[in-house]
Amino acid sequence: MSDMLNIAIAGLGTVGTGTLQLLDRQDGLLAERALQPLRVVAVADLDTGRDRGVDLGKISCFDDALQMVAETDVDVVVELIGGSEGIAREVCEAAIAKGRHVITANKALLAHHGIEIAAQAEKAGVVLAYEAAVVGSVPIIKALREGLAGNRIARITGILNGTCNYILSAMRATGKEFDEVLAEAQSLGYAEADPSFDVDGVDAAHKLALLTAVAYGCIINFDGIYVEGIRHITARDIACAEELGYRIKLLGTTRRLEQGVEQRVHPCLIPTGAPLSHVEGVLNAVMVEGDFVGPAMFEGAGAGSHPTASAVVADMVDIARGVVIPTFGRPVTELEKMSSVPMKNHSGAYYIRLSVTDKPGVIADISAILRDGKISMESMLQHGRADASLGVVTVVMTTHETQESAMIEALAKIGALPVVEEPPCMIRIEQL
Ligand SMILES: NC(=O)c1ccc[n+]([C@@H]2O[C@H](COP(=O)([O-])OP(=O)(O)OC[C@H]3O[C@@H](n4cnc5c(N)ncnc54)[C@H](OP(=O)(O)O)[C@@H]3O)[C@@H](O)[C@H]2O)c1
Repeated sequence: MSDMLNIAIAGLGTVGTGTLQLLDRQDGLLAERALQPLRVVAVADLDTGRDRGVDLGKISCFDDALQMVAETDVDVVVELIGGSEGIAREVCEAAIAKGRHVITANKALLAHHGIEIAAQAEKAGVVLAYEAAVVGSVPIIKALREGLAGNRIARITGILNGTCNYILSAMRATGKEFDEVLAEAQSLGYAEADPSFDVDGVDAAHKLALLTAVAYGCIINFDGIYVEGIRHITARDIACAEELGYRIKLLGTTRRLEQGVEQRVHPCLIPTGAPLSHVEGVLNAVMVEGDFVGPAMFEGAGAGSHPTASAVVADMVDIARGVVIPTFGRPVTELEKMSSVPMKNHSGAYYIRLSVTDKPGVIADISAILRDGKISMESMLQHGRADASLGVVTVVMTTHETQESAMIEALAKIGALPVVEEPPCMIRIEQL
């Protein structure tokens, strides 16, 4: 190892700029901890001339990231452009082919191509590091691969997307509906102009795919994840959940079961006493259940320029220290191919919200369908008429644990009753 870690950074956006700022402000501290200075010698961005509040005076600037990789002699290439295809992947693969260590914050890229890229890195004898890709600042990859290495992991449950958590928290605090809170989140910069990746659960699923691979030593299976977002959650659901002793959170959950791995991202009711229920706003948190450690919770900023830069730089320090750990905790050839447990086999409790005609016998009809499906009800709320002239009331029920397939079948029958005015809303209850 040379007496200096030479670094090239592709992408000077939110994370790239934060990384340059951190390296600049903490250079002495980092040199002590890494036992050598960390020096950025090259950067690439479509526009390196824009004022980003960082001094690029002594740094070679490229507008072509591949040219930067080809023409610079560095130890580490940091990919902070983003996207699951195209230039981000090309930069990582070109860097590995040249024998450079690679650091990326790109969960989309790794969720789709992480195994191939990790295999290339292993073959080339370089590190592929990605702490920033999963829950931004929170060192959860390090915790799983190192700190919890002595445990078999039974379940990981996390609030993996800050945008969704902000929206659900703000809906609860203000009583406003999803669309209004989303618009506010966009104006505050907590949600993208096109929010679909976040609010439809895809971003959380990318992170969950990586957590699953590290936790269980298995090949990434992004397509095996059940994904459902938060667009259908109403202010009334949040208020009813609260009345029943729950909060609604978008959770990513991965569980190792006898039949394989269950991976799912969807809104959940979680008990108000559970630590995850108190993680509010843009914060993220991950609860890991290990057989010796028990439950362990990790919480912090899941995004943002400086928090994410903190994770990128931690990977640089590891590389400078010579820490080499297989990308997903064991060599790619040793990763198991595990079957995915389909969502219809999921077993849990459910919250159901129905808009029904306010007349005698309705609840009896619904109860009969649940009884026939062997689903037992735990509690029921009936709420005032949204519009008395329509004669429609909201009925909310929670069930005891049952099989998802039975619940879906029962809801189809309930939804077909002439007294049921809207498609039923179903939210899973997660016991934590
Ligand atoms: N933002 C966060 O808080 C956060 C947290 C965790 C992980 N991440 C991940 O970190 C990565 C970067 O995110 P970010 O928020 O920093 O994105 P960003 O602000 O959009 O920055 C990306 C930068 O790359 C530049 N770029 C685009 N195409 C390029 C090309 N062909 N060559 C060189 N540069 C190019 C962009 O330029 P233009 O602006 O001109 O397009 C932009 O300056 C993503 O993978 C993201 O998922 C972000």
